[in-house]
Amino acid sequence: MVSAGSKYKHKINEIICQWSYKYKKRALRILETHQFIGNATIIYRKYGGVISYEINPTTYERVINRFPDAFNLERILQKGYDLLDFINSYRRESYYPVILPNKPSDSLIGIRKLNIYSFDIVDIDPPGSPHEYFPNIFNLLDDNSILFVTSGSMHYARFNPISAMEPYNIGSNKGLKLTRRLFQDDNILIIGFYIINEGLKYSILLFPIFIHDYWTRQKGVQRIGFYINKKNNVKNRNKLSECYTYDPILKVNILKCSSLKKGSLNLCRFDDTISINMLEDYLISRLNYLSSI
Ligand SMILES: C[S@@+](CC[C@H](N)C(=O)[O-])C[C@H]1O[C@@H](n2cnc3c(N)ncnc32)[C@H](O)[C@@H]1O
Repeated sequence: MVSAGSKYKHKINEIICQWSYKYKKRALRILETHQFIGNATIIYRKYGGVISYEINPTTYERVINRFPDAFNLERILQKGYDLLDFINSYRRESYYPVILPNKPSDSLIGIRKLNIYSFDIVDIDPPGSPHEYFPNIFNLLDDNSILFVTSGSMHYARFNPISAMEPYNIGSNKGLKLTRRLFQDDNILIIGFYIINEGLKYSILLFPIFIHDYWTRQKGVQRIGFYINKKNNVKNRNKLSECYTYDPILKVNILKCSSLKKGSLNLCRFDDTISINMLEDYLISRLNYLSSI
């Protein structure tokens, strides 16, 4: 069963894939670091070839049964195929190939072997913090690609928000006083800020696209999307600075927040009353803007 929160997550995935597919005018190369039973894979494979990892053996078994026609990742890597050629050769009428490792796999280890490829969509959807995927994941992102990041439930953060912030270099010693409440509300902003700054170290600009879903906030599931731009010039940097403002008190960049009606939007909070059409309009206009920079 797909929860209402996942419904939005998957709808957003789909809107962004449709846009990228039209923008790139070719099949997409998609990487899922956390597959679960393949509910996102089913959507992704309509727009391109998908490489997916799942660590849990029982879940992996379900995935294998669900995609009996999946290709073997190890074999493809061994043969050194061009990923796009491979995807196009095995395109079916209404979907593209799914590529899976031959056993349950930790994607943190697995993605090190993928560095011969670059991807148009990368989806990091862990149950906990995504920080371990940075900075390595930047090597796998193509220019004008999309990075989805979930900051998951982060169970331990509820009990010790300060230690949960350690990976993000903004612990209490940096003057940030985090309460549990602040952590729960704003960890996606902190993680977003961290990821943008990591990107800047590698001359990659990450433009935030949208942010969390109030409906699922109770469970702590929050998503942020980034548009990747590898032209790290002054014009682009200025554009990026328009995407967030600096708050010297919190020492955290707070992404600008405005309502859907107020034109240029960087941060989108929504509840389950938002219509899919509104969400789609927002995402498409944001992507059109980001791709024109
Ligand atoms: C939130 S679910 C993913 C949901 C999926 N992306 C979707 O949208 O339907 C997280 C999954 O990540 C798996 N997982 C956790 N750590 C992993 C790792 N290091 N590598 C691969 N999979 C992992 C878990 O077993 C779980 O099934």
